[in-house]
Amino acid sequence: MRSGIAGTGSYIPECRVTNDMLAARMDTSDEWIVSRTGIRERHLSAEGTAAMAAEAARRALEDAGMTAEELDWILVATVTPECFFPSVACQVQEALGAKKAVCYDLSAACSGFLFGLQTADAYIHTGMARNVLVIGAEAMSRLVDWKDRSTCVLFGDGAGAAVVTAVSAGGIRTGVLGCDGSRGDSLICSTGHSADGIPFLEGTGEDGEAAPTSLAMDGREIFQFAVRTVPEVIREALAQAEISTEDVSLFLLHQANARILTSIGRSLHVPMEKIPENLAHTGNLAAASVPVLLDEVNRAGRLQRGDTLVLAGFGAGLTWGAMVLEW
Ligand code: UT7
Repeated sequence: MRSGIAGTGSYIPECRVTNDMLAARMDTSDEWIVSRTGIRERHLSAEGTAAMAAEAARRALEDAGMTAEELDWILVATVTPECFFPSVACQVQEALGAKKAVCYDLSAACSGFLFGLQTADAYIHTGMARNVLVIGAEAMSRLVDWKDRSTCVLFGDGAGAAVVTAVSAGGIRTGVLGCDGSRGDSLICSTGHSADGIPFLEGTGEDGEAAPTSLAMDGREIFQFAVRTVPEVIREALAQAEISTEDVSLFLLHQANARILTSIGRSLHVPMEKIPENLAHTGNLAAASVPVLLDEVNRAGRLQRGDTLVLAGFGAGLTWGAMVLEW
């Protein structure tokens, strides 16, 4: 049994923060941010990851014409849960009333939605599920260091969701995922918990204070990784589907940097009209980036039945993935 996307939804929080608003607080400028990244504004969440995820999910269910009770699984890709446990997926289950769903979060950073879709496809393909809700949701504003201008200007908050269901024709054709843990340090956010020692014996961590997180990125390294790896993994997914770039209507790529998108387009010889951008108004939404873009193009009427789409992402881990699907 193949799987396909029956409905999409997204949620972007109300609070809008422009580059000029950032420049009023730190040593940066609209000119620097726009010219280096293409980002003009981002939205920051007052409600948190689970609430944004639930709202995106409600919209996706409505688009699919499905009720929450019909969901077999809920998978949430996120690196910004409010709690270590319970999972965001369980919080979404409660918010939706999706009583029979099995729920868990998965962590693959900005590639997370691709990992979730591939997992949903496998569950449906093997008959373990019929309807899977896949969500990418992030409150990156809670994670970034607002004193580090080299990273905090890049990210935004939001959530996107897709209802994946069994289909008799079309749907997901191929998916290729990859990881390289040896390059994990180039984009890392520690929990603040040490990998060494026994806190109880050493008398640390007793004051009840939350461990500080710290996001560190080698921007140039990640840039090089993205422009090299994303075209490669897209070519691999297309080859497995036995089609070429000309057969693809739209390439929905992780929105990290407009220059990365241009470079990928050039490398694949794909015109930029086929590579939609929304990062100017969202910033980098990590795992929410691809599903929010998918929902935006869907609601804008840019997807016709039978269109071939490529979805691709890359991020911390390092992780990457591409998927070919028929709409
Ligand atoms: O989802 C995946 C996550 N990450 C990515 O995809 C990031 C990929 N990398 C990038 O997008 C780019 O590398 C960045 C946008 C992060 C940085 O652009 P860059 O052209 O590689 O700049 P840089 O890091 O080489 O910094 C150039 C200069 C530095 O100053 P000096 O040393 O030349 O004097 C930085 O200190 O720009 C400075 N700088 C800033 N200036 C104003 C760094 N951040 C800022 C800032 N405003 N916000």
